[in-house]
Amino acid sequence: MTQPLFIVLDGIDGCGKTTQGKRLKAHLGLAGHETAYFEDPGGTPAATRIREILFDKDCPLSPKEQLLLYTAARNSLATAIKDRLNKGQHVVCSRWLSSTLAYQGFMGGLGADLCRSLHHQLRIPDPDLYLLMDVDPAVGHARKHGAGERFESKDLGWKTRLNYEFGTMAEILELHSGVVAEVVNANGTEDEVFDRILTKARVVFPGLV
Ligand SMILES: Nc1ncnc2c1ncn2[C@@H]1O[C@H](COP(=O)(O)OP(=O)(O)O)[C@@H](O)[C@H]1O
Ligand SMILES: [Mg+2]
Repeated sequence: MTQPLFIVLDGIDGCGKTTQGKRLKAHLGLAGHETAYFEDPGGTPAATRIREILFDKDCPLSPKEQLLLYTAARNSLATAIKDRLNKGQHVVCSRWLSSTLAYQGFMGGLGADLCRSLHHQLRIPDPDLYLLMDVDPAVGHARKHGAGERFESKDLGWKTRLNYEFGTMAEILELHSGVVAEVVNANGTEDEVFDRILTKARVVFPGLV
């Protein structure tokens, strides 16, 4: 049996994390390997409650408050993920430390060190593979909100920078966390993106699927 693997998909809204994550879970399942799919923050009763606070527009949060809440939710989800891995299942997850680095570390100005060290001191596990999905921000926005919807240039600038931060993160994650991180071109059809994901995953884990 293949060793159970923990695979994270990350990237800006609309890059296809949920679509491709569920597809990867189904694909691995069809290949005979039980696979769990999670979305961070979430996946446990506590993390789901924390997610409600994080996504509540009436509850403004500073980048530090966001960091602590996201990390608390992730710490809770990590327990559920370890449980699945211990049962021999693969785990696919949308978002992880890479999102905290991008949103709170780089965009929120807290820096990478604080985010990373908090993570590691809490023994929140690193995945075996990060797939960082690189999408044209206008394409990601259109996928999420509909092609005709107005897209402010302020949003475009912000999302372009965010997408850039995700793109540069492969090197940062590999250097500091010793994990494997691959950038995937997330433009194109769902089938095209999924083929690229499988190609990357097969290079890192020959014989996976
Ligand atoms: N490659 C693709 N081409 C066109 N539409 C896509 C593609 N991937 C995902 N979508 C659609 O775009 C929307 C956002 O995708 P989703 O997987 O939810 O992104 P994320 O989880 O990264 O925000 C969904 O409606 C999904 O069906
Ligand atoms: Mg999603």
